[in-house]
Amino acid sequence: MKEITTIKEAKLWLRTYQKKNLKIGFVPTMGALHDGHLRLIAQSRAENDITVCSVFVNPIQFNNPEDLAKYPRNLSLDARLLKSHGCNMMFCPSVEEMYPNGKQDPVDLEYGMLDKVMEGKFRPGHFKGVVTVVKKLFDIIGPSNAYFGKKDYQQLMIIKHMQASLGLPVNIIGCETVREDDGLAMSSRNLRLTIGERQVARRIFEVLCKVREKGTKTPVWELKEWAIKKIQEDSMFRVEYFEIADRETLMPVEAWGHKNQLVALTAVFLGDVRLIDNVELFS
Ligand code: PAF
Repeated sequence: MKEITTIKEAKLWLRTYQKKNLKIGFVPTMGALHDGHLRLIAQSRAENDITVCSVFVNPIQFNNPEDLAKYPRNLSLDARLLKSHGCNMMFCPSVEEMYPNGKQDPVDLEYGMLDKVMEGKFRPGHFKGVVTVVKKLFDIIGPSNAYFGKKDYQQLMIIKHMQASLGLPVNIIGCETVREDDGLAMSSRNLRLTIGERQVARRIFEVLCKVREKGTKTPVWELKEWAIKKIQEDSMFRVEYFEIADRETLMPVEAWGHKNQLVALTAVFLGDVRLIDNVELFS
């Protein structure tokens, strides 16, 4: 596996494959890789000629400096994992390489409600930072297919929207959330949970599953209230939001009624670690 840190070298290395019209699959990450990322790598390998993974902790998508400082980093382990899983190139630029002299060239787009609810509401500026870096990475890598986990459901919808609005020649592929044996969605942030927190973390997915089970038998508002109360029954948890929303627009719904495809999404603090998860309803 080739390890590249500069944009110039990445473009040069990729040119050989682009000239041969080979399909490039791309998995953007912030490192601290886990099985969820490795599943994306496997899918990319199955559907493309070569697979590139970026490892870059993108400072401009963190609205909380402490979260950025505490974000887990382990580049040498990431490189070993990617190599043993057949990734062809790891792109791991420095912050200066991506934003020379702090120049960000932010991508400003109109998203309707997509960036105003849930993560957009509670993490101001987050999606602008994500879209800016993903667009920059797409420009460097020139992928045919790019893979994103559904755990970051709203991010996936925002990136799909960006691809469509800018007419980028890349397929955005959403992949199922990979879970630990007890149901906890895999996330690099799980590494920050204490042993005690890790033991109870399953509660988030358990409640989401109960919500899916209860479905339309309970009014939406009552179900949301129930879910928040149920998660917070253990005082280690604090729910930031729990919403039931349209899968495409992410507009929270007030009542069942239509046959729209829905998704239940939540952000929860467990101690000082912020975890997000979701389940699709009526699938
Ligand atoms: O999902 C992530 O890990 C990040 O938001 C992404 C897409 C790699 C952009 O920094």
